[in-house]
Parts: sequence; C-alpha cells; structure tokens
Amino acid sequence: MDRNKIYGFEFTGNDGEFRLQNPDRSSFLYFPLVNEGGMMSTVTPKLHGQATTGHNTFLTPPLSVEDLHTSRASRNFWVYADGKGAWSATGNSAKQNAEFYSSSADEALLEAGFLWHRITRSNAVMGVKAVTTSFVPSGNDKIELMKVTLENTGSKTLTLTPTAVVPLYARSADDLRDHRHVTSLLNRIYTSPYGVEVQPALSFDERGHRINHTSYGVFGAEGDGSQPAGFFPVQEEFIGEGGSLDWPEAVVLNTAPDIGKGGGVQREGYEALGGLRFDPVSLSPGQSHSYVVIMAIESERINTNALIGKYGTAEAFDRLLEETKAFWAEKVNRVQFQTGEPDVDQWMKWVTIQPVLRRLYGNSFLPYHDYGRGGRGWRDLWQDCLALLIMEPAEVRSLLLNNYAGVRIDGSNATIIGQQPGEFIADRNNIPRVWMDHGAWPFLTTMLYLDQSGDLDFLLQKQTYFRDSFMSRCKERDASWNTTVGSSLRTDSGEVYEGTILEHILLQNLVPFYNVGEHNNILLEGADWNDGLDMAADQGESVAFTAFYASNLKDISQLLRILKQSKGQETIELAEEMKLLFDSLEESVNYESVSAKLGRLDLYYASAPNKVSGKRIALDTDKIADDLEKKAAWIFNHLRNNEWLQSEKGDGWFNGYYNNDGEQVEGEFSEGVRMTLTGQVFPIMGHAAAPDQIPHIISAVERNLLDAKIGYRLNSSFGGIQQNLGRAFGFAFGHKENGAMFSHMTVMYGNALYKRGYVNEGHKVMKSLYSLSSDFETSRIYPGIPEYINEQGRGMYTYLTGSASWLLLTMVTEVFGVKGKLGDLLLEPKLVKEQFDTEGRASINTIFADREFKVVYKAAGSFNYGEYQIHSVSLNGSEVTLQRVSGGAVIPRAELLSLQTGECHLIEVTLA
Ligand code: G1P
Repeated sequence: MDRNKIYGFEFTGNDGEFRLQNPDRSSFLYFPLVNEGGMMSTVTPKLHGQATTGHNTFLTPPLSVEDLHTSRASRNFWVYADGKGAWSATGNSAKQNAEFYSSSADEALLEAGFLWHRITRSNAVMGVKAVTTSFVPSGNDKIELMKVTLENTGSKTLTLTPTAVVPLYARSADDLRDHRHVTSLLNRIYTSPYGVEVQPALSFDERGHRINHTSYGVFGAEGDGSQPAGFFPVQEEFIGEGGSLDWPEAVVLNTAPDIGKGGGVQREGYEALGGLRFDPVSLSPGQSHSYVVIMAIESERINTNALIGKYGTAEAFDRLLEETKAFWAEKVNRVQFQTGEPDVDQWMKWVTIQPVLRRLYGNSFLPYHDYGRGGRGWRDLWQDCLALLIMEPAEVRSLLLNNYAGVRIDGSNATIIGQQPGEFIADRNNIPRVWMDHGAWPFLTTMLYLDQSGDLDFLLQKQTYFRDSFMSRCKERDASWNTTVGSSLRTDSGEVYEGTILEHILLQNLVPFYNVGEHNNILLEGADWNDGLDMAADQGESVAFTAFYASNLKDISQLLRILKQSKGQETIELAEEMKLLFDSLEESVNYESVSAKLGRLDLYYASAPNKVSGKRIALDTDKIADDLEKKAAWIFNHLRNNEWLQSEKGDGWFNGYYNNDGEQVEGEFSEGVRMTLTGQVFPIMGHAAAPDQIPHIISAVERNLLDAKIGYRLNSSFGGIQQNLGRAFGFAFGHKENGAMFSHMTVMYGNALYKRGYVNEGHKVMKSLYSLSSDFETSRIYPGIPEYINEQGRGMYTYLTGSASWLLLTMVTEVFGVKGKLGDLLLEPKLVKEQFDTEGRASINTIFADREFKVVYKAAGSFNYGEYQIHSVSLNGSEVTLQRVSGGAVIPRAELLSLQTGECHLIEVTLA
C-alpha cells in the first residue's frame, strides 16, 4: 500500500460493506451513525465528528465541516507506550499530524457497512495496531459505542497505558457562540466507577433559563468489563497549562489522574471531559486487549449500573453490532437490484438508505448540514414520502393524510413542521414567504400512492386546513388571528372546517393558475424548488413550475374522470367559495388577460378570507374535469408559443424564469448562453413539452449544460450576482445552486427522459450520477449520492438529499419499470444492454401490494432497449395471462392479493 496514494473504495460484501485505504488522506469525509431512538452521530476516519440528540442536546461540540480539521475536540483514544511515548489510536495527536507526510506516518484502513464504521490504524515505529469500531446500537437508547482493540505488532513486550477521551460539551448548539464560557459554569460533573457524567444545572437557550435535566456521559470498561483506573473530568486539567487536546499533559507525561478507581468525586463549573484512564497493560508480541467506550445522552441522570450492564463488555458490543447490522440490512434489503453491474447494485444500497437517514437527521446534524434544528421543510416532507412508498409503504397513507393538514385555504401551506405527524406551526418570526412550488409536489406524491395502492377513497377522505395570520398567499395579514385561536381553519360559525383531500389538491393547483405575472406565467413569489431564487418576489415568474402545475391540472382532470367511472362519483363536494376558481362553469375568465386572472383570484381571496362559510356545493365531476383540462391546455399552448427559445444552433429549449425586472432570464445573449436545467425538467416530465420538442431540448442540454468533469450543471454561467433573481447567483459558479451538478434536478431530468421514452438518454444521465459519485479519487465521498458535485468534481452535502428518493424511485418505477397503475402492477422495463448480466438477467426485489416480490427479467433475444418486448410472465412458476398495455404488461392487483404475505414471490419475465 502506498501511503501517499488515493485509492477508491471497494465493495467487499453483499450488504454494501466497503473498504477504503488511506481514508485520512481525504478531507471532509464523514459517516453517519444513527438510530430510531434519536441518537445522531457522525464519525470521521480520525474519529472526529459529533454526537447529539437534537439542537439543544449536543454531547460533543457541534461542528461544521471545516471543524473536522480545525478543531482538536474529537473522540480520542490515547496510549502511552513505555519507552516510546504518546500515540493516538485515532490519529489525533500533534506528533502524528507532524509526521503525517513522513515515512513514519500511521497506516490507516477504513471498513464500513450498515451502519458501522471501523478504522484500523497501525504504526510500525510504535509497534502497535488499533482497530476502532463505532456504531449506534439500533433501538431507542441514545447511545454511541466504540470498541478499541490494541495489538502489539512488534517483537518485544509492549506496556501501554490507555486513556479514552471524549470532550463533553453537554449543551445547546446555541451556546457555542452565545455564552460558551458562562454555560460551562453551569456544569455539574460526576464521576462514578465507569465514567464521567455531566448534568448542567440550567439550560441557556432561546427558551429561557430553566432547570436542565438532560445528562451526558462517557463511560468505559476493559473488554472483560473491568473498571477504568481513574478519571479526568475537567478538560483544562487534562490538557495542562499551555497544553492542548492533541498533546495533553496527562497523556504525554503519563501523569496519574487525581480521581482514582471507583470515581465518586464531583466537580463543578468547568468545560467537562470524558477522560477515562485504564490500568497499564503489557502485551507480548501478537497479543491484543480491548476497551469499550460508551457515549450516552439521557433525559435525566444516567443509571450507570443499567448502562454498564447492557453495554459494558466486548461481548455485548459484538452482539449488539451484529443486531444493528441485521436491523439495517433488513431495512435496506427491502429493495435490491441485481444487474450486470454489481458495484452499481451495492452503491444503490447506500442510496436506498439515504431517505431513511433524512427521515432521522432531517436536514441537520451532519457536518455539511450545519444549519436548521432537525426539521424538514414542506417540499422535503413530500419528496421523502416517494422513497417511503417504496421502502416503508405501510406507514405512508397516514403520513400523506396528515401532511395535507398543512394546506391553507389560499392554496399555500405552513412551512414550519412540528414533531408530531400533521403538526404545523405558525411562523414565530412572522416571515411572510411562499415557495411557489410547494403546491405542486403533494399531488405528484399522492398520485404515486394512488397508483401503488389503488386507494381512490383516499381522495374523498376529509382533513382540516392550516390557518395562521397570513392570508392571500402572504400578501395580507389577518389581524383577528393570534396563537390562542389555534391553527385550524374555521367556518363563519366557528367550527373547524374539513374538506376532502381532493379539495386540498384542487386548491393547491388552481390558485397558482390565477396567480400570474406580466408574462402570464405563475409568479415566483418567495422562490421555487431552487431555494436560492429568492430575490424576485415582485415580478419574477417560474415558467418551470408553470409547466409542472399545468401537468398536474391535466392529470387531476384524468383522475376525476376515473373517479367517476370506477366509483360512480357523479359530483364532487367542495367549499362553495371554490366555485369561483372553476371559471368555465359560470363566468369564464379570459386566460390571455393577466389582470382578469388576478381579478378572479382577488375575488376568491375576498370570499374566503382565512375562513370559509362552511357551506358546500356539489359540482359535476365531468364539468370540473373539463375545466381543469381547458386550463392545462391553455398553459401548454402558452408555453410552447411564448417560452420556447429557438437556438441559432438548430435546437431549442424552454425559458425557465423571468426576473424581478420582468425580463426573460434564459437565451443566447452576447455575453453567453443562459440556460437552466430546471426549465427543461418539468416540461419534459409532464406534458408541456410537445414530443417533437424533446430531442431539441436534449441537444441543448448536452451543448449548454453538460460538463465532462462535473456532469449536467443546474445552469450555465450567468456571469454576475443577479440581484433581480436570487442569492444562488452570489455563490461562485459551479457550486451548489449556481451551476453545480445538483443531483436532485439531474435525477429528475433522468426520470423525465425515461418517462417520455428517451431511455438511452435517461440512462446516460443516471450513469453520470453514479460515475461522478463513485469516482472516489475525484468525488472523495463514501458510496451514495451527494446533494451536488462542485466545480472540482467533489461530492458535497453527503447523505441528506432528496435526490436519493428520486433516484430510488426512478430505478424501481422507470428503469426496472415495476410500478403501480391505480393498484394493478405494471411491468414496463427500460433496461439497457449493460444492465443485463452475462446470462441476460436483471432483477429487482421490491414490495408491492404489501407483498415481497422478486422480479427477474430475462432477455432471450436482444439486450438493447427498443429491441425487446415482454414475451411471457410467470408468477411463482405459473404462466400469467398477459394484459398488454403499450410498452408493458399488467398483473391485476386481485391476483397479487391472493398471494401469501411474509414470503417472497417470484415474477419471471421473458423479454424477446
Ligand atoms: C436541497 C433542499 C431542497 C431544495 C434544493 C434546491 O436539496 O433539501 O428542498 O429544493 O436544495 O434548493 P437536497 O439537499 O434535498 O438535494
């Protein structure tokens, strides 16, 4: 092994396990360790990172990605070797850092899997090897565990004095800048036979100074359960005057702790440290000895006896590690792919777990995600459900139902999401802001749910609406509202109003239809999907999302017709005020006229001013469907005529935006081409792009947005800060929402291409995501899809990204074509040659109709997409009578429901 070389990761097993040489030669690497009980840790190759259960309860100091190399406050495990001095088993010592580029540097190897992390570090001069394994046990305890095994790799007996060290920050992230010192004075530090515990007396955070109950501890034992020899509970005493955490006096001079075996001493008012000294151990050559370290967060003082009883031996550690691996394997393996590209299949397992990680971490608590308090936004809530529909489908119905309680009667929605399902909170900061894309996502997710389940009754189920002081999409304030009146919409007579889910969906998609800017596209308002387009709230328009809403209107109209046909739903019951929005039923609005649309919207706002009459009307289902279809057709026509940019190069694309000066954003200008991927994705994904426009768009994307090094950029260079569009353009070009390869939009582009039958093109896009992410030498990330790839090709904001949900969804429903069609199972494979193995097979394990299936495609003739068709299908060995639809075949749900639950059923599909 060459210590100076950057190696890629290699998969070593069938459950995503991988290994990586020299992991400490790449900066910014980190790995998530988490459980369903709320423990959220991060660990780096040098055991840096953090451990927390929330914004106000950090065990270690909260950090941002830069702190991984600027801060010395990491987990550490020191040994003092007689005659040789101090060495850090985690690589965090001033001496090892100084020798990092020399021939006496440590060797390091990372191995990891679901969800465990192991570093093997050895040093020839010291004659020692340390294997450090970390994980957060599955279950509900807020615990992180670490086991260190020291081995004598030299030829003489080695006497080592170990000291485990974890800085105990023990408070709110807010206190990092605000009163860090004063809050250390609150610390009450206890030592007991196995470790150090801190329970600050008060909590200083925005909630005021209150008695604090949360306790934080670091405990440890030798592998056989023997107690530590002593304790260093105060950081400044451990490091010594003038010392530091990476060259601490107590270790370097091998001084004995003041507090000896058994602990029992208390300290107050200092920065705390989980410093555990162990008895010296003499290891003959080849001999090893293990230690277990437990980091714990509890809502009250920690029951150390119980904790040690459960976690305090190497035997318990190993057993719990296996349980944890099994827990995650069960989750991840609910969806599995077996193709001609086994590395891609293993990589997909890491993508599959990402939506679960986002459910657990929110968008916070990993080093790049150094913002927020763990919550997720409205958009993410709906995106994450896409993956859950595939991974944890049983829970999704109630999630979706609850989420709809966040919709306001003006079609906008709450943006602060509470802890409980369906809990939406009024914005305390009172920031009036509407993200114009928010109304578009719920229908997309709901449609997926309806297709997977056939549960059309869901549409007719009732749900409340959200209400706060904002009305008319934040243009007006309801002076009569205050927190005491609650956040549910009420009727004139004060009753809580409930409408069907269908009513919620209609509102979300109809209100934007009227809310247009001077070019007759839907107003950008606070921003759209791109949070960074936040400086065009007056005149900005999102043409991209106008296309999305129009496609929704068309799909909803089709759904209404199905509701009538299959459920006999002749009329739809709605809040009477909504009649105004179905203009074609009575007084038609001239859609060409911006002022006429806005006028109708004002009438609607006035009729439902943060309350409703409570009266319902029944409207004819067909007439509503006609109305929606008419609106959709008008938009498609409008976009094709007015927003299509014909390039001098022969191809063309859709303009995606207008800025705050009412100017068309995209086009070929003398300073260069301005183009966005977003502007193309939604017209292709829905119905706005006419079939003959798609090849032109693909050509323009390849020409203007594809960069050989970083893939499909989110936009071309606009060349300036764009004060009339948004903060994104303040970012350097090629980073994040300004021209990086932003995975979420790229995956949606791939998805859209597959949907419209551009399979080879879609595959090229998906493959680029894999290649960029897994090319470790450049991306420097562990397996999985990052939020974006920056100008240098580095993967950024790993793990927590909505792109993972979309990638998984695209693989299952488009590439493998295993998807619901209002409850029936549609098989419509769009596999390309390289995805079949040498025997012409490609398979997927997935859940459908509450049953597990393995779908095996077998190409009997050509492996090329377009040259094969479904020839025959068998279910558990018996031939299925095929119901062919264009491009695929359907198996009726009834047939699947007759199968046993709890076992895996085999569907074999011959392609010829
Ligand atoms: C993030 C946000 C997402 C937003 C996107 C673009 O993407 O989570 O809501 O639309 O930035 O601003 P993600 O990290 O999910 O890929």
